[in-house]
Amino acid sequence: MNQPVSGTPAIPVITIDGPSGTGKGTIASLVAARLGWACLDSGALYRVLGLAAERAGLDPGDGEALGRLAAGLDIAFRDGRVLLAGEDVSAAIRTEGAGNFASKVAAHPQVRAALLEWQRAAARPPGLVADGRDMGTVVFPDAEVKIFLTASPEERGKRRYRQLRGQGQEANLKQLVRDIAERDERDSQRAVAPLRPAVNALVVDTTSLTIDQVLERVLDVAQQSLAGADPLGG
Ligand code: C5P
Repeated sequence: MNQPVSGTPAIPVITIDGPSGTGKGTIASLVAARLGWACLDSGALYRVLGLAAERAGLDPGDGEALGRLAAGLDIAFRDGRVLLAGEDVSAAIRTEGAGNFASKVAAHPQVRAALLEWQRAAARPPGLVADGRDMGTVVFPDAEVKIFLTASPEERGKRRYRQLRGQGQEANLKQLVRDIAERDERDSQRAVAPLRPAVNALVVDTTSLTIDQVLERVLDVAQQSLAGADPLGG
């Protein structure tokens, strides 16, 4: 269980980690909706920070300056929109460029430390579904249910391609597969909170599974682990 404030019951958490293009954001929000729980898209935090850093003209290699920016970041999630100092940046943070920049700023320990409590504070009754890279390993190490989604780089590139085209954005499949491989490499090799499954995570390869199949799998596991808490309300 997560560290309860003394005397208060702990809040159950389901973590869904994995590299980009595995569908973890979609799965996390579907699981949260099904359970009636809150949902934390931690990648959005790093993306917003990247955007704020770019606008401030900060060097993505300057961990000290980025850590200070992260500590004072005015970010809010409202009605499915992501706000930076009150401005709706939901679309601006979803480009490939924003993802790559996010992955550079996310490598700094000062940044990760500054965003840690913000993420933990997202846990609220009746429960939280959190998706990202280090939800099960660092942010919520005592989560009840830990899932790690994978898929082949080619399949992830195709999914990302369809997603971008669906949003009316330009996309080049070969370039996307290369970018994904580069981002995976940076996220897995960094010294702090590298991308890897928690020891007690269930690893699900989604390469040939539909969203519905992954959702059912995750809900099954959640139901078993949370048995007694009646997470599905029935
Ligand atoms: O998940 P998403 O693609 O939105 O994340 C963007 C980037 O933010 C990732 O490539 C990763 O470097 C970083 N990130 C992270 N830790 C998280 C979530 C995202 O380092 N928990």
